[in-house]
Amino acid sequence: MNAVPNDHIGLMQSAPPRRDRLLGNELAAPRPLYFVYLPLVLVLSFTGVVAWVVGSEVATVIGSFVGSLVGLYLLWDWLIKGGGTRFSTLIPMGLLIGYCLGSFNTWATTTRNGISLGEFTGNDDAVLARGVAAVLISCAISIFFGEIIERGEEPIAFEHDCREGICGSCGFMINGVAHGPEKATTVCQLTMRHFKDGQELVVEPWRAAAFPQIKDLVVDRRAFDRIISAGGYVSVSTGNAPDGNTHLIGKDTADRAMDAAACIGCGACVAACPNASAALFTGAKIAHLGILPQGKPEQDRRALGMVAQLNTELFGSCTNIGECTGACPKEIPLEVISAMNRDYLRASWKKRDDDVRTVRPMTEWSTGSKLKIDPNATS
Ligand code: SF4
Ligand code: FES
Repeated sequence: MNAVPNDHIGLMQSAPPRRDRLLGNELAAPRPLYFVYLPLVLVLSFTGVVAWVVGSEVATVIGSFVGSLVGLYLLWDWLIKGGGTRFSTLIPMGLLIGYCLGSFNTWATTTRNGISLGEFTGNDDAVLARGVAAVLISCAISIFFGEIIERGEEPIAFEHDCREGICGSCGFMINGVAHGPEKATTVCQLTMRHFKDGQELVVEPWRAAAFPQIKDLVVDRRAFDRIISAGGYVSVSTGNAPDGNTHLIGKDTADRAMDAAACIGCGACVAACPNASAALFTGAKIAHLGILPQGKPEQDRRALGMVAQLNTELFGSCTNIGECTGACPKEIPLEVISAMNRDYLRASWKKRDDDVRTVRPMTEWSTGSKLKIDPNATS
């Protein structure tokens, strides 16, 4: 397809040259996923649970002592080390210093004539110990959620819509395989029972220069939309739904058109292809209309327009490797690429002497830039 001269199909002269496919260097750097206060959370939780279960004066003393140390550490971290001012940390700090240090101080400094702290305060020891335990555990919970929410950590971003394998928005690589290990399955149809217990999964976004990364696993697939805009439709006035027998279509033809129409535009074919080619997608969109009688009148214009747009985007060329059809969750056959090439060659031959440029490829080279249309081309 790339051997066809650009001026024949009206490509923009100012279009920037193709870039080599980047293997991941456009991806964002990994985010820090550690918890600064995780040791404190573990110490508070463990001590709190033990103090609750034991419920004795010793548990009260050890719990309040540990809570005091953690509270003083938080105070030192905030005042001296310049730690962040966060409600989720400052409130536990005040509680730990006020309640735990106060309890420990009472136990250490008050003369009680040989009676326990519980007896001295008029309660039993278990109630006091569980009071300290409740403070420790609630402080651990507050610090834990503060780490997640106030550090600005977010869950991994991914795209989804239908969750039943028909919209094509959810795709990404799982352990290096587009849409994961199950054949003919989109990511949204995968469940964790498709993996072993404890198995490590590596998830990555589609990697293709034509699909710039937006965030985490979300990529910009508008290049596909522009290819469809260039001809993937039938522009006739449809009126009311026609009678089913108005156009008699053989079963084989209907089946082939239906198979091609199953493409959901997910982009797995591009991600799986070593050339990042979108030939299978474009072939499916050209074939499912071109096979049926309703799509025949615009067959030439459609093939020229969509292939022109395909060549304008940053996709690679098809070299018939076949990875695309293996990765495709809808099992679109390679036959659609042959159909596209046939349509395109025939249309190019028929239009070879035409002065009129029949298509207007659009370019949009980076996310956020304005869509540009070749002003010199006529449609
Ligand atoms: S051809 Fe298959 S893999 Fe490619 S976009 Fe369509 S459904 Fe997805
Ligand atoms: S969410 Fe629609 S195909 Fe997966």
